[in-house]
Amino acid sequence: MIAGSKPVSLTPPANSTESLVKKKHLFDFKDWSLQEVHALFDTTDVMAQVLERTIKRVPALQGFTVGTLFFENSTRTRLSFERAARAQSADVLSFAAGASSLSKGESMKDTLRTIDQMQSDVYVVRHAASGVPYQLSKWTDAVIVNAGDGRRAHPTQALLDAYTFKKNFPNFDSFEGKRLAIMGDVMHSRVARSNIELWTLLGGEVSLCGPATLLPQEFEQFKNVSLSHNVYEAAEGAHAVMALRLQSERMTSGLLPSIAEYQERYQVTEQVMKHAHSDALVMHPGPMNRDVEISGELADSERSVIEKQVANGVPIRMAVLYTLLVGKR
Ligand code: CP
Repeated sequence: MIAGSKPVSLTPPANSTESLVKKKHLFDFKDWSLQEVHALFDTTDVMAQVLERTIKRVPALQGFTVGTLFFENSTRTRLSFERAARAQSADVLSFAAGASSLSKGESMKDTLRTIDQMQSDVYVVRHAASGVPYQLSKWTDAVIVNAGDGRRAHPTQALLDAYTFKKNFPNFDSFEGKRLAIMGDVMHSRVARSNIELWTLLGGEVSLCGPATLLPQEFEQFKNVSLSHNVYEAAEGAHAVMALRLQSERMTSGLLPSIAEYQERYQVTEQVMKHAHSDALVMHPGPMNRDVEISGELADSERSVIEKQVANGVPIRMAVLYTLLVGKR
């Protein structure tokens, strides 16, 4: 036997996804229970073990085809889904809008029906418009996984963020009493919305911070969510501080007086972290604009788990694909 090739059981733990998570698609967490999220984290632990082996591949999804339909750019999400599919021996059909026949006038529906003829079992979808993954689910029998729709939701990002937080503390017990501070362009951020949804579902609290033009007041109504325009106040006692990029591609007009003023008032720095909990983590979903929303020094510091977030994206997405597909055997 080749060293490290010992098979890893992919039978989920007894209390895990096979019995608990009965979902066809993943659009957001509106229909997810706390138990289901924890079950998915248990499956992620199994997947993380697979990725620690010399031969990082199991036959769990052999015979399945995963289509990645990206109508918007991506580095982390797309590559980690493709890695997650291949690590389970699935085939991958990779569609990039910019290199497709969409530019020749083919509609999205006809594009999907064309790719459907190549027998994809699941589509991982990213689009600039909110609701596209849901709409596609009406045009295909395949499973749909939302890889980011407009400013609405990016559920696998929130899953990997919460999983990274949990795994960083050896004796982690619960999200209750743990506060995530999210700083920056909350208005345009699907990452913020999915993190608010998931973190509060898990029992944690969220503080949001940004300039008035980038911090929707509607979040004031949310249970266990607080708003502030002061980074020091928002960071006070937080267990993790997440900086968000200014999403200029979603901004219509001058929402900021100047980048220099934004950096001065809202950049997450070592100084800001002095207000957070002594063990607080520095997080960023990426892509990062160094020295705009986060200081480069802090991003590279020991508190930073930014690269760990990227690494955890693979076992989380393996667990999502496995959970949604395995019941289709
Ligand atoms: N966090 C995230 O979604 O990154 P990508 O845009 O590179 O996928």
